[in-house]
Amino acid sequence: MLELTDLKVHDESRQGEAYNPSTGKPLVLGKRFYIESYGCQMNFADSEIVASILNDSGFDATSYPEEADLILINTCSIREKAEQTVRNRLQTFREVKQDRPGMLVGVLGCMAERLKSKFLEEEKLVDIVVGPDAYRSLPGLIQEAESGQKAVNVLLSREETYADISPVRLDSNGVTAFVSIMRGCNNMCSFCVVPFTRGRERSRNADSIVEECTSLFNQGYREVTLLGQNVDSYYYYPDIPGNGPARPVTFAMLLERVADISPALRVRFSTSHPKDITDEVLYAICRHENICKYIHLPVQSGSTRILQLMNRTYTREWYQARIERIREIIPGCGISSDIIAGFCTETQEDHQDTLDLMKQSRYDMSYMFYYSERPGTLAARRYTDDVPLDIKKYRLDEIVKLQNRMSLDSNRQDIGTVCKVLIEGDSKKSARDWMGRNSQNKVVVFPKKDVSFNKGDYAIVKIKECTGATLIGEALAKEAIAEGSGDLKESIFS
Ligand code: 5AD
Ligand code: SF4
Repeated sequence: MLELTDLKVHDESRQGEAYNPSTGKPLVLGKRFYIESYGCQMNFADSEIVASILNDSGFDATSYPEEADLILINTCSIREKAEQTVRNRLQTFREVKQDRPGMLVGVLGCMAERLKSKFLEEEKLVDIVVGPDAYRSLPGLIQEAESGQKAVNVLLSREETYADISPVRLDSNGVTAFVSIMRGCNNMCSFCVVPFTRGRERSRNADSIVEECTSLFNQGYREVTLLGQNVDSYYYYPDIPGNGPARPVTFAMLLERVADISPALRVRFSTSHPKDITDEVLYAICRHENICKYIHLPVQSGSTRILQLMNRTYTREWYQARIERIREIIPGCGISSDIIAGFCTETQEDHQDTLDLMKQSRYDMSYMFYYSERPGTLAARRYTDDVPLDIKKYRLDEIVKLQNRMSLDSNRQDIGTVCKVLIEGDSKKSARDWMGRNSQNKVVVFPKKDVSFNKGDYAIVKIKECTGATLIGEALAKEAIAEGSGDLKESIFS
């Protein structure tokens, strides 16, 4: 018997996560779908839009693929390994289908365009293929597939933002949620497949974003992360007929509008591009206690020569100046990065530049990868993938080791300090401890003891010890919103 629900697919913690209906309500709508997601947070947010579209057309979710009428995999193309993982899952589902001929299998997301004919015709792995801008057509495609046709829609759009669709929150802790504010990317970093799989950049209607965040807050959520491939280039022209030219909404303005919903709603955002993050955004972070003091600012490489080949459009010095500006305007800001080891033509000296820049930037955390050539990208067309795999892996290992040391150092410096933690739930290791995050996005764990905290509460925590990945502390106080006012009030209980 196939162990479909026992997913061991990827080391990043959310990879392959499946929909787990949190309501506990009986399934009433007839047919059921099962959805599994891979890749970045945008993909996870897209699965929530797909769930909403399917709910509206009469499908209920299940977390058991064995009982699903429709199995969907929301795929990622960013590195070869991600694609391989999805292929393995599709093979497994094909075997299930042999016992259940009526069941449909669909591929969504970034692999759709590139591999549509392979999946549908050559390998006959799937019945439906839908690209990231075509989810509204899913109900029609399901009908086509039910009548035995191959159902495909991988058209990319210049307008689609799914602004009017209320996502169904999947695998939610009820405290933190992702809100998509834009789609696509115009940057054309030479290593990256995203501009090809997700299309041109477009910004979502600002009012619909504020409405979605307000509704989340009213449902009890206490943190929203505004998502886009390049949030700093968010730019929305409101359409106000008859009122003359409207003032465009920039990312800094959007951040402040969301922060103004309530001081008890934390706001995060991801991802920022070093060339686009403005001082205006940094000042907005400073002005609002509830905009988290944390910036994910991927550098990719510390060598100006490699950055040029990557088409990142900034130099090492420009990047350093942005980091200095962040530290100057927002003292104590958490900073993290993405780093690629072994890009085309990278020498030992370029690699050393990356290690040096990491040290100067003092990242609290990084996502680290070795270069994986993606078909169709600028780098695949222009350059030779000439760094041998063992050297890529060796350099990546050095980068990871350095980051681990820096993360531990950064956490050690927090020992003895006091921070405000939004409680997300039980700690993974013990139900006797709470787990949450501080403003800098560091994971904080502390004993529940006999204090009456709930998920979604803010706790004032004194940090006592740490590991490289976690701060361990003790709650000193509970922070609550005073009834009828927007003010934060502390109630000291120890
Ligand atoms: N190879 C390795 N890493 C990549 N990334 C994007 N494309 C590639 C690739 N072809 C990394 C970048 C990016 C993150 C989301 O994934 O660091 O910021
Ligand atoms: Fe890819 Fe660069 Fe766009 Fe990020 S900014 S999605 S790395 S092209």
